[in-house]
Amino acid sequence: MRDYEAWHRQYDDPTSPLTQRLAIVQARLGQRLSAAAPGAIRVISICAGEGRDLIGVLPHHPRRADVTAVLVELNPHIVEVARANAARAGLTQVKILEGDAAVSDIYAAAVPADIVLACGILGNMSDMDVERTARNLSMLCRTGASVIWTRHRNEPDLTPRIRGWFADAGFEELSFDAPDTAAKYGIGTVRLIAGPPPFQPGFRFFTFTR
Ligand SMILES: C[S@@+](CC[C@H](N)C(=O)[O-])C[C@H]1O[C@@H](n2cnc3c(N)ncnc32)[C@H](O)[C@@H]1O
Repeated sequence: MRDYEAWHRQYDDPTSPLTQRLAIVQARLGQRLSAAAPGAIRVISICAGEGRDLIGVLPHHPRRADVTAVLVELNPHIVEVARANAARAGLTQVKILEGDAAVSDIYAAAVPADIVLACGILGNMSDMDVERTARNLSMLCRTGASVIWTRHRNEPDLTPRIRGWFADAGFEELSFDAPDTAAKYGIGTVRLIAGPPPFQPGFRFFTFTR
């Protein structure tokens, strides 16, 4: 696997495409938190990295006290950074699990979620696994839940097909951000309108190929 600790350093440059993408993800996440029904909001982040999306938004969000979150990350050094970030922000309700985000079991106690973050993952697996993930993430969701996903738009651009797979799985698209920048990336925000399928233990969504 590539050096994801080094990958995260791109966030240190406020002008990097990744930092710009993060700003859009954070804005969409803030909107979905605001739109959530009154009461508890459960968030899952798949391959959470340093947790910059949620941990960046939650401290000043009016729904902060309603949120509990499970962030799953494999790399122990990155987990430490995420835990330190959450602690610094006083977010005791954000749990960072060191483990495999690719298999459903780790989410068993966190489902059904109201918001699922799938950011920075769909570009790191086979197209077949992207389809498998998009078609099956609904098992982690409650009806009405939002999924925020990202994927580069380099040719051959897979994002039109990803949008179709989410639609097939019962999601309506709320937005698709595709800024006209040199680094091409897309951010999809979808909402589950169908009833979710049952949670399947032992289900492998994907395998990272890089
Ligand atoms: C491209 S980064 C994205 C991080 C974060 N979601 C973001 O957008 O900033 C992918 C992350 O997935 C982690 N990762 C890779 N395979 C994983 C797995 N099977 N389970 C959990 N995390 C994994 C890597 O260590 C890395 O931190």
